[in-house]
Amino acid sequence: MDELISQIADCLINSKNAVALTGAGISTESGIPDFRSPGGLWTRVDPGEFSIDRFLQNPARFWRLHLRLKESGDFDLASAKPNPAHFALARMEQMGILKCVITQNVDNLHQKAGSVDVVEFHGNLLRAVCLKCRALEPIAQAEARLSNGQEEPPRCQACGGLLKPDAVFFGEAIPSRALMISQVQCEKCDVLLVVGTSLQVFPAAQIPITVKLKFPPATVVEVNREPSAMHERITDHLVLGSAGEVLSRLSDCLEKKKTCTAC
Ligand code: APR
Repeated sequence: MDELISQIADCLINSKNAVALTGAGISTESGIPDFRSPGGLWTRVDPGEFSIDRFLQNPARFWRLHLRLKESGDFDLASAKPNPAHFALARMEQMGILKCVITQNVDNLHQKAGSVDVVEFHGNLLRAVCLKCRALEPIAQAEARLSNGQEEPPRCQACGGLLKPDAVFFGEAIPSRALMISQVQCEKCDVLLVVGTSLQVFPAAQIPITVKLKFPPATVVEVNREPSAMHERITDHLVLGSAGEVLSRLSDCLEKKKTCTAC
């Protein structure tokens, strides 16, 4: 693995616009389950519960499920801590190597780890959004009003509209700003670091295809516990292992190479 890590580090050092695309697998070492691995969230909860249509049919039912998942620890994102993988990507950004992290995750852990240029492709579950006036508020405030029986479902404090967690539900569009920034990043990207995602959900899974189909094609590096659905078509370097360990070694190697010692 050292040789492969060194090769990837050279690729990143020589890049002009390296971008990371992350999925739930980067947060499992922070105690947040992913979706499709054994024991993942979708092996225990019907994904349909997170569709916008079902939410609108019965918002109070969804918010009760949300509280249960939070209390079970599955979605206690407020207390989740970044792990070495998040910190490694933040270090790569501070080194001037990684230009942006496009994340499918809604757990805010890249920001907590110090990454600045983060595109929240699927929104952020630490916020609640009003479906009427689009006002945002910390989801903890809405959860508090819900759990102490004040409001079910939680309502916007500004206009009384229905509140929804500010994550993209199935059947909802990707936030236009996130989509636009991602497209600009893809056009410039010459190395894409794909971490902890099965690449099964579009349009996020379109990102590696886009950077591979343009000219000149970007180099795609995949760090996963198991190969993604697309690895045979798009991946140039596949590193199988834990994101925390692999990205920490990669970041250490980059630091050494940047100070010109052998990695
Ligand atoms: N290190 C590296 N890879 C890991 C780790 C780890 N510690 N833990 C899990 N993985 C890998 C798994 O092997 C799997 O390939 O991360 C991947 C997670 O895949 P999914 O559970 O499908 O999660 P993700 O790809 O992020 O899902 C995309 O689907 O349900 C929607 O909105 C949801 O954003 C999510 C989207």
